[in-house]
Order: sequence, then structure tokens, then C-alpha cells
Amino acid sequence: MKKIISAIMILIMIAALAGCSANTAGNAAKEPATADEASELIKTDTFEADDYMNRLKSCVKQIKEKTDFVPDIVLVLGSGLGEFADKVNVVAEIPYSEIKGFPVSTVQGHDGKLIFCEINGKKVVVMKGRVHMYEGYDAKDVVLPLRALHLIGANTVILTHAVGAINEDYSVGDFVIDKDHISTFVPSPLTGKNLEELGERFVDMSDAYDKDLISVVEDVAVENNIPVHQGVFVQLMGPQYETPTEIRMLRGLGADTVGMSTVVETIAARHMGMRVCSISSVTNMAAGIEQKKITHEEVQESSDKAAADFAVLISGLLSKMTVE
Ligand code: HPA
Repeated sequence: MKKIISAIMILIMIAALAGCSANTAGNAAKEPATADEASELIKTDTFEADDYMNRLKSCVKQIKEKTDFVPDIVLVLGSGLGEFADKVNVVAEIPYSEIKGFPVSTVQGHDGKLIFCEINGKKVVVMKGRVHMYEGYDAKDVVLPLRALHLIGANTVILTHAVGAINEDYSVGDFVIDKDHISTFVPSPLTGKNLEELGERFVDMSDAYDKDLISVVEDVAVENNIPVHQGVFVQLMGPQYETPTEIRMLRGLGADTVGMSTVVETIAARHMGMRVCSISSVTNMAAGIEQKKITHEEVQESSDKAAADFAVLISGLLSKMTVE
């Protein structure tokens, strides 16, 4: 009897060991076991990068087929700031949905189109609406429109967006000119194979926001009595607003404002050597500063109220700035 029991035990142990090694073999199958397999994986990555470049070039081609307007400046209108686009001299309009391969926004208040226009003597393409990573797009998709517009000719981008104020010296209705940012909490649009046709592998970010453009916006604000600050912006993924503890952490890291866009676009723009100016509209105090909830409606309402001042700032910036 003892012999039978120990024989059964041995059989059970052998079966367990066999299962274990089968498992290991199962996991190992996902890793490249040979140099050939590894180079297959690298080829796949290369193929995806080529795919992306082809999509980008196709978007450029489609836009060029619809207009021969060559913009110098891209103006990205953020949450609720789109009204500005209704008051410009339009040369051509292209809804994002008509450009195959363009990401299309799913958020209310972000209906997307490109507006090619002249504003105060400058050749501008307005991106009315943008997509966000919280919609499920990855960073590379988010920056594809900006990359396309750079390939069409624009060398400067003015980014605008709604933010929550972390800095308690700021108030709702103020504007903040971004002088630096924290990108640590969102993926870089530059990962993967470098797109050599756009820029170099490693990108300096010590001067991400153009100092000349910052001082032009500052001058316009002072001349028109518009409350403006210079601050550090942090982009988070969203779509949930932050907790009070997260806001305390971000303040400790040096952030003055928080939002869900812009930094990935700044990174892509700097990769392509574009000049960047970014203007934040403070739509709410960040979580935990005031004893009330943050809502999308509040953010949109505050943006609407800021629209007149915002138009003065952008209009002044466009007429005073030089084009490169
Ligand atoms: N947090 C993140 N994004 C935002 C906020 C905020 O408080 N307000 C406007 N966009």
C-alpha cells in the first residue's frame, strides 16, 4: 500500500513539474528566442513608423488638394475658445472628418475643422477643436494634425487651452502664458522609431516656449488691462479632474496650472523646430482649493466669459509678432 501511495505522489510531482515547464515555454514563446525573431520584431516597428509617415503624408496631400493656402502660423483653439474662429477672414475650411487619417474629436465643444485665414496680416491656419488622449487616442495621433500643418508650411504654433489654477494667486478669468511645463505624467509623442524627416532623435526642451512670443503676449495684456501671469503648466491624461492630494503634489513639483492637453503638442512642435507660444485660460481653481466640485459646464462657462479678452490677446499677438 505504501508503495502505491509513494508511486502516486511521484506521478503527481512529475505532472506538476511538466505543467510548470510547459508554462515557462508558453511565456518564452512571446519573447524573441533567436536573432531572426528579434529582427522580425524590429521590422514590425519600422513598418508601423512607415505606416504613420504614409498616413501623415496622405493627410498633407489631401489638405493641399483642397487649398493652396500656405499658413505661417497654426492657432490651436482649446475648450470653449473656438468662438474666436467665427470672426476671421476665411479663405478655406476643411472639417477634420473630410481628411482621411485625421483624428476626429468626440468631445462636446471640440467640433473639429481647419480654418485657413488671414488675421491681422498673418497667414494662419486655425485648428478649431483638437483630440485628447483621454478619448483613447495615443500621443502620436494627437499631434498628427500639427505635424501635417508644419509640413504644409507653418513654423509657429500658438496653443490655447483651459486650465485649473493650482497657484492660489491666480483667479478664474486670468490668463497664464506658459513659460515651462511638466510632461512626466503623459507619454511622449516621440517614442518608437524616430521620424527623421520631422526632426532629430533627442530634443532639447530647455527653451520650449519662445521668449519673444511670451513678451509680446505680456505687452498686449498690459496694454489692454488683461490679468496675465507666466507659469508652469502640467498636462495630465484625464478625463477625471484631479484629487486635492494630487493638486498638492503637483504644486510641490512646481506646477501653477493643470490641464489635459498641450504638452504633447509642444513636444512634437519642438521636435520639428517650430516656435511655440501657449496661452492658458483659467476656468476654475484646481481641486481642493475651493469647497466645490469641478464640472465640464463650469469650465465651458468660464471659457465663454474669457472669450472677449482672449480675442484681444490673440489678435494683439498676431499683429505684433514677427513671422519666421
Ligand atoms: N484640471 C484638469 N484639466 C482642466 C481643469 C482642471 O482643473 N480645468 C480645465 N481643464
